[in-house]
Amino acid sequence: MYAQMVKSEGMKSPEEMSPEERAFQERVDRGEKIEPKEWMPEGYRKTLIRQMGQHAHSEIVGQLPEGNWITRAPTLERKAILLAKVQDEAGHGLYLYSAAETLGVSRDELMEKLHSGAMKYSSIFNYPTLTWADMGAVGWLVDGAAIMNQVPLQRTSYGPYSRAMIRICKEESFHQRQGYAIMMKMAQGTPEQKEMAQDALNRFWYPSLMMFGPSDKDSVHSAQSMAWKIKMNTNDELRQKFVDETVPQAKYLGLTVPDETLKWNEERGHYDFAEPDWDEFFEVIKGNGPCNEERLGARREAWDKGAWFRDGLTAYAEKAAARRAASNVAAE
Ligand code: 3HC
Repeated sequence: MYAQMVKSEGMKSPEEMSPEERAFQERVDRGEKIEPKEWMPEGYRKTLIRQMGQHAHSEIVGQLPEGNWITRAPTLERKAILLAKVQDEAGHGLYLYSAAETLGVSRDELMEKLHSGAMKYSSIFNYPTLTWADMGAVGWLVDGAAIMNQVPLQRTSYGPYSRAMIRICKEESFHQRQGYAIMMKMAQGTPEQKEMAQDALNRFWYPSLMMFGPSDKDSVHSAQSMAWKIKMNTNDELRQKFVDETVPQAKYLGLTVPDETLKWNEERGHYDFAEPDWDEFFEVIKGNGPCNEERLGARREAWDKGAWFRDGLTAYAEKAAARRAASNVAAE
């Protein structure tokens, strides 16, 4: 089974729910926000920790493929922009870890689960970034797909998650635009630069479609998560929306989406498009993608090398608390 940690148990009908569960579901249905200390079903809490933790991990692992290009950016301006973007991702990770902590899980526990492979991060970050054009494709497509998923999450039922998403989405939309600006420059540049842009689109198109998760028929969590408004749309709905919005952007760039079956369907009012290779997706999320080992290795190394700093902070906080306690005693 490719899903782990939290199994969606199958949804309860209102008759099967306890009075507390029914009252909770009614609050969610009315669009009320659920706040940290309020009663919630255990499955709701666990599902949120799974999704928010995985989301936080994606933000910080997502720094790695772009971090690789900070020293290689073609101009000082591009370097400064990329640096700011990568720093934003660290901030997103922090908001999300903090929001997850309100559910009674510690950041150390979440980190341990990332490092041991018990928790996932987005499949997309297991692909390499080979050229500068990949920075364009990552911003345009990867951040573009991320926003498509995250804008609806601003209305998610859990208060701290919803509020974190509002801020994150503002920054993600800047990220998407900076990626598109790079693509524009490359697509309007020399034939070699345009070729690099096309090559980046070719390599990132299907992995970006995979970011939305498996097709609805294989999505084990969607039904329950949507009933709880932890997710606001199905994976296929968002994937379709992404394709519909992105194809005209590719046309504007003069680039070709690598899908020969891609066609506007007048009747549906949507593009018909080819599904990604789902076998590849399942392999990547099982840990067998091109860069899984490198990414997790880098995260584990950063954690180990940062131990002295965390120890220092803890020792300082303990000393400060002891000093405060001593001065309180003296003042009494
Ligand atoms: N990568 C890795 N794992 C994935 C995945 C993906 N693209 N899509 C699905 N999965 C995993 C699920 O986590 C689940 O495994 P688990 O039970 O071990 O957690 C399994 O596949 C089944 O899929 P489901 O569709 O049933 O799972 P969900 O209901 O959780 O839906 C999701 C998946 C749409 C990704 C949902 O979790 C979600 O909306 N998450 C919040 C958004 C998020 O995490 N975004 C990360 C994008 S990257 C990013 O934001 C960084 C930015 O800077 C670019």
